Amino acid sequence: MKAIVTAPGGLDALKLVDLPDPGKPGAGEIRVALHGSSLNYHDLGVALGKPPTDGRVLMADGAGVVEEIGEGVSEFKVGDHVVSCFFPDWHDGRPLPGGFARTPGDGIDGFACEYTVRPATEFTRAPKGFSHVEAATITTAGLTAWRALVEIGRLRAGETVLVLGTGGVSIYALQLAKAMGARVAVTSSSDEKLERATALGADYTVNYKTHPEWAKKVLEWTNGVGVDHVIEVGGPGTLSQSIQATRMAGSITLIGVLTGIQGDVPTAMMMGKQIILSGLIVGSRRHQLDFVQALDTGIFKPVIDRTFRLEELADAFRYEKSGSHFGKIGLEW
Ligand SMILES: NC(=O)c1ccc[n+]([C@@H]2O[C@H](COP(=O)([O-])OP(=O)(O)OC[C@H]3O[C@@H](n4cnc5c(N)ncnc54)[C@H](OP(=O)(O)O)[C@@H]3O)[C@@H](O)[C@H]2O)c1
Repeated sequence: MKAIVTAPGGLDALKLVDLPDPGKPGAGEIRVALHGSSLNYHDLGVALGKPPTDGRVLMADGAGVVEEIGEGVSEFKVGDHVVSCFFPDWHDGRPLPGGFARTPGDGIDGFACEYTVRPATEFTRAPKGFSHVEAATITTAGLTAWRALVEIGRLRAGETVLVLGTGGVSIYALQLAKAMGARVAVTSSSDEKLERATALGADYTVNYKTHPEWAKKVLEWTNGVGVDHVIEVGGPGTLSQSIQATRMAGSITLIGVLTGIQGDVPTAMMMGKQIILSGLIVGSRRHQLDFVQALDTGIFKPVIDRTFRLEELADAFRYEKSGSHFGKIGLEW
């Protein structure tokens, strides 16, 4: 079967290879014909060789159709549309230690291939009416936005949400927050992308390049109060502004590292405002089942900026690296 694997040398060295067919499912397993994936910043890091890997099948997100069922599997039947889970072993409850050691497309082989055989518990049903590419976006970006706003943030209608930039996680968070009756502010480096965010329902927008002190603008928008929730994908370069833009006892979910992995935090201001800062890495299978149930109601479908063919994965990553996208970048075959 066709697969895309890493090789030393980054994007230029990504290889389309022919791997052995994974065969028939054993007890508790399913065989899935994969047809879609979506790109995440995390996958780009692996493809660029951080950490260096050789021969790793890329991509954390995978969606497709169940082809065969192993003994004892009752949750799925042949023909079901399914989508992968980011943490194969985290089914419910508290997160497990171990970082990305068991994350597909990083610590173990991912879904940039035609077929896979894995335990049925490593998948959930795909949301009703979603294409394979749309379904694949829930594994990482979608579930991260869901967990930040619903599981951790306990978002309520009428609250205010700030999302940073217009990448996969942030646009998912914008769509979800609007669907739940929140008011949403969006930052971006591009006025054109901010217009697209407004068309999707954003209530307030600010260009973080032309307004480096964007927290002041967000505070003005909230009459000096600050927002209830921040989807923090920037990290050290944005956290100080995010803290300034948050209301007393508001919540910041620390999700991303777009500006680096270490830096100064205005601890006194954070303490004085009694802000709740939560780190988060995607979510459990239980969270994904709940998210799929919500998406089944038809609240929204993810924004797919552009879709590439599997063989074009290196070009898809170059497109992601250019920062031109708005929402998700898809991969199909
Ligand atoms: N913790 C988790 O579970 C989890 C899950 C998914 C992703 N992440 C992390 O979250 C971050 C975003 O991931 P993604 O997949 O959504 O990435 P992405 O789709 O590649 O989004 C990148 C976008 O971020 C925006 N951006 C870049 N620098 C920024 C800055 N200084 N301030 C505000 N926005 C900035 C840009 O938006 P504009 O073009 O509009 O300026 C850019 O297009 C990454 O660090 C990723 O590793 C974490």
